[in-house]
Amino acid sequence: MNVLVVGRGGREHSIIMKLSESTTVGELYVAPGNVGMESLATVVPIEETDSNSLIEFAKSNQIELTIIGPENPLMEGIANDFIAEGLRVFAPSKEAALIEGSKSFAKEFMEKYQISTAGYESFSDPVMAKHYVDKKGVPIVIKADGLAAGKGVVVAETKEMAYEAIDDMLVSKSFSEAGATVVVEDFLVGKEFSLMAFVNGEKVYPMIPARDHKRAFDYDEGPNTGGMGAYAPVPDIAAETVDFATSEILQKAASGMVAENRSFTGILYAGLIMTEEGPKVIEFNARFGDPETQVVLPLLKNDLLQVMLDVLDGEDPKLEWEDDFCIGVVMASVGYPADYQKGVVLPNITGDSFVIYAGVKNTEIGYVSDGGRVLLVGAKGSSLEATGRVVYESLPPNEMLDGFFYRTDIGKIKEGALG
Ligand code: AMP
Ligand code: GLY
Repeated sequence: MNVLVVGRGGREHSIIMKLSESTTVGELYVAPGNVGMESLATVVPIEETDSNSLIEFAKSNQIELTIIGPENPLMEGIANDFIAEGLRVFAPSKEAALIEGSKSFAKEFMEKYQISTAGYESFSDPVMAKHYVDKKGVPIVIKADGLAAGKGVVVAETKEMAYEAIDDMLVSKSFSEAGATVVVEDFLVGKEFSLMAFVNGEKVYPMIPARDHKRAFDYDEGPNTGGMGAYAPVPDIAAETVDFATSEILQKAASGMVAENRSFTGILYAGLIMTEEGPKVIEFNARFGDPETQVVLPLLKNDLLQVMLDVLDGEDPKLEWEDDFCIGVVMASVGYPADYQKGVVLPNITGDSFVIYAGVKNTEIGYVSDGGRVLLVGAKGSSLEATGRVVYESLPPNEMLDGFFYRTDIGKIKEGALG
């Protein structure tokens, strides 16, 4: 079967890596992809949101399944467009993707279906939002309603910070339409983890839990990023907690979406926090997480194409997982998540690790950086300690790097830190 993957980052490279192990995959294509994927798939220069060209490509290349990686095309209805043309796609409709696309929708939905999450109110009037902050006190969390590429969340430690975030979103319109409504949410305390599942309607097949590291620097210092590394599974999250989150969060969400006439097909991602009252939802995503996917898929024993076909057919894919751990460390451009330099030649990555590319391009002088998150170095092993050693032995020391940096604590669990 010919397969097309849509996206250009580490998540899509990881999906392609897994698909390339499949004996049922014929030709493998990625659009728009990146140069680091060229050894595994044919890279097609079509943008993620260009539904018409992607549909045309799928038809003329006998693509039997298209897998959508990133969120933007989902919100624009790429799955609806493919289905309308009679093409198979592993992705939610835009109606279903609203669970990620609108935080106020997601919060109301969770309230209605009794899915545990932080208390909140939504506002479009800055004065009312500030009154609510005064009433609730700090710390408090201010979130832009729509997609903001991971930048629309402010954990405000002071009232001034909260006011500033509200003005930024509602008055200065820094996030334009995405920030026309804000959700003001209670600050929750606990360790975070991500739980993704293959979903089709009422049917939910959970993966193993993973832990992302969103802050830029070691031990969760610095600004929020798109993710600086991840590991899976997560030893401090008990199997009972995963079972509870599956039935009380993912299953309730899938059933709720069916009841709302927004039946979800694809990957449902729950960003969770383990509070004293049990796991609570921080966010839902309508797609594979990045960089969680890069450490979860390497541990999947099944053929990924077969899993997706089974799920689409309403059959149990009977997921099986390796007993090992997987750690992935992101190498980013110095300055990320703010302004950063591009065009720096990549360092050599050696050793028993795998490399997943994101912001890279090919030039006369070889592969150079072309984005904030440049690549991810990953490994599998029987313990987090042993696996971490393999990953970090593959990376040149931070001091030796010119133009790049990475966190040195991924997979090293320290009391008090988020993970
Ligand atoms: P998000 O973009 O929604 O994943 O949020 C980014 C990060 O902000 C999360 O990973 C959390 O660390 C933090 N965060 C978001 N909402 C809350 C909350 N209600 N309480 C505490 N931390 C939060
Ligand atoms: N790792 C968080 C996300 O994919 O949104």
